[in-house]
Amino acid sequence: MEALFFEYKTLIVFLHVISAVIWVGGMVAMRFAAHQSFLEIQDPQERLRRIAHALKRLFIIVFPFVIILILTAIVMIKGYSLPQSEFASLSHIKEGIWTVMFINLVVMIKRRNRAVVFLEAGDIAAAKFSLGIIGKYMVPLNIILGIVAIFLGTIFSTSL
Ligand code: HEM
Repeated sequence: MEALFFEYKTLIVFLHVISAVIWVGGMVAMRFAAHQSFLEIQDPQERLRRIAHALKRLFIIVFPFVIILILTAIVMIKGYSLPQSEFASLSHIKEGIWTVMFINLVVMIKRRNRAVVFLEAGDIAAAKFSLGIIGKYMVPLNIILGIVAIFLGTIFSTSL
């Protein structure tokens, strides 16, 4: 794995960084650009439908990159022998952050799907509640965790 990593290091680090850009950048664009625009739609049912649709598109786009991010992280853990190095705890923190972000993403996907069922049944209040938690807490949480992970990545790239 170590030899493989150093042979393809540029490609692996590139795939790691571009995955973080798309995952974290996608959430920022959704929360601070698309979401603000959706709020201007007057009809609540149509507004919630558009938000649910945009979230679906976002989740479909980011999911493969979430997987690429962890695969490239595993290659780097082995390649740099991080658990045996002075950076072991930093590596564990990043692994923990990815895990929380991933669980949060899976829960968001389930919440969005449930909101769509509520919308189809005409239960606007329940759909609004489900989508509201995603927008107010879950996406911002992943943005903050993602920024922390990127900062820790910068420490890695300037120290390894
Ligand atoms: C799963 C555990 C993770 C591990 C073990 C890990 C490990 C690393 C390592 C070793 C580097 C330095 C690569 C190099 O320069 O050779 C790095 C860079 C980076 N990581 Fe991670 N990472 C993890 C998760 C994440 C997550 C969750 C994000 C963001 C969502 C992220 C974003 C970045 C970014 C943007 C860089 C580039 C920083 C720079 O070049 O200044 N990483 N990571």
